[in-house]
Amino acid sequence: MATDPRGLRADAPLLDAWLRFQEQPPTAFTIPGHKHRTDLVGDVVAGDVPLYAGLDTMKLTAGVLPNAESRAARLWGADLCRFSTGGATHANQAVALAVAGDGDEVVVSRTLHRSLLLGLVLAGLTPVWVRPEVDEATGVPLGVAPGTVRRALRQHPHARAVLVGDPSYVGTVGDVAGLAEAAHSHDVPLAVDAAWAAHFGFHPDLPRHPLQLGADVMVTSAHKTLPAWSQAALVLARTGRIDPGRLEAGVEATATTSPAGAVLASTDAARSLLERDGVELIGGALAAVRAARERLRAVDGLVVLDGPGVDPLKLTLLLPGTGADGNAVEQDLLAAGLPVESADRDVIVAIATLADTATGLDALAAAIAGSIGRHRGGPRPVVGSAVYAVDPVVAMPPRQAFFAERETVTLERAVGRVCAELVAPYPPGIPVLAPGEEITADSLAALDQARAAGVRIAYAADPTLATLTVTTD
Ligand SMILES: Cc1ncc(COP(=O)(O)O)c(C=O)c1O
Repeated sequence: MATDPRGLRADAPLLDAWLRFQEQPPTAFTIPGHKHRTDLVGDVVAGDVPLYAGLDTMKLTAGVLPNAESRAARLWGADLCRFSTGGATHANQAVALAVAGDGDEVVVSRTLHRSLLLGLVLAGLTPVWVRPEVDEATGVPLGVAPGTVRRALRQHPHARAVLVGDPSYVGTVGDVAGLAEAAHSHDVPLAVDAAWAAHFGFHPDLPRHPLQLGADVMVTSAHKTLPAWSQAALVLARTGRIDPGRLEAGVEATATTSPAGAVLASTDAARSLLERDGVELIGGALAAVRAARERLRAVDGLVVLDGPGVDPLKLTLLLPGTGADGNAVEQDLLAAGLPVESADRDVIVAIATLADTATGLDALAAAIAGSIGRHRGGPRPVVGSAVYAVDPVVAMPPRQAFFAERETVTLERAVGRVCAELVAPYPPGIPVLAPGEEITADSLAALDQARAAGVRIAYAADPTLATLTVTTD
């Protein structure tokens, strides 16, 4: 279903301001330097309008941003919403700065995204790590159990907050309501990195979003699952257990001072569209993904993640039973012009959103089925991704290790040393090694396993991973 974006204008102040700028472009003596000319470097700058002296005046007299943010807050049931042009990365770092201070303990899922880990570095927080349950049959993470958080809070009574990522990268959904109860029974806030779940809560067949389930803060990437520009994200909070001033300060401390108006306006437009047509649009996408799931379920040996604990718009396929290598399937999909979000030997993740069509999903399912047929082999045992099972040996807080004196050593000499850098298979960007953690044979084996499965190892100073950066003794 196509929609009429002009119809959204009356309800979306940032979109309205962006459209007005296009209709009556000024001769601006302000930034940006392209001055809205597309005859210099071309359309690559088309539509780039800043917030300051663009969507609003330089003095922000129209208040279009807070107006749009308060509409989003109302839609998600929050007391406070801030838009971000720095992705959920920025929003996570703002949350880390908001929930506690230098040296404070926080209970954090070890399957956190690197952005939150670097948030811990920025805020100087000391993580008390908890791990999700992992489903033995499929190897996928199931979410951190509320009992695990309760235990961690009992053992660390001074912990100031609980921070988890949910849903997981592969679309599994944990017990967020149970986590909220566990955090609140200790009188600390629950913050949920729901980067992949901007659509949750907007259709009866989707899981509810974290605020609906009792969380105090949620971060989400509008650009991941809503029709918004890359980098568009939101942080939404209930202020009972979250100090709004500290959250505002955290957002401002880590934000650019030149926010891209098109990114903000697209967040506003996506919010308005979700509010007006979300149920219908998401309903269409759900039906299309359901049909693709049916078709793929018929592929011998292929496991298609499904059920109440899975985001129905995420197609996560487990290939071991087919014997096919997901990297080879990905090559076929790339050649067919059908790139997927992630593929390694054992797992393929395809993301569908309300912008997808039944035709596109049909083509994807047919291409995957055909490719698996061509690459089929003897079934392999399921080997769960090692990133979900990292059990770190913590030697010092992440911030201390991040700023420590450091040296580079070969892998053989690295075992037993304290890692000074962050090393993560990407996707999903979950660190196997984080600053302050002892480098163990297990952590190196986890990186090896990821590499052997065809996953890129990201963020290490030495991308070949022949050496690692460690703190000096
Ligand atoms: C769980 C999680 N949180 C945060 C992020 C960062 O999101 P963004 O790319 O919007 O900065 C990602 C990105 O993949 C993610 O997977």
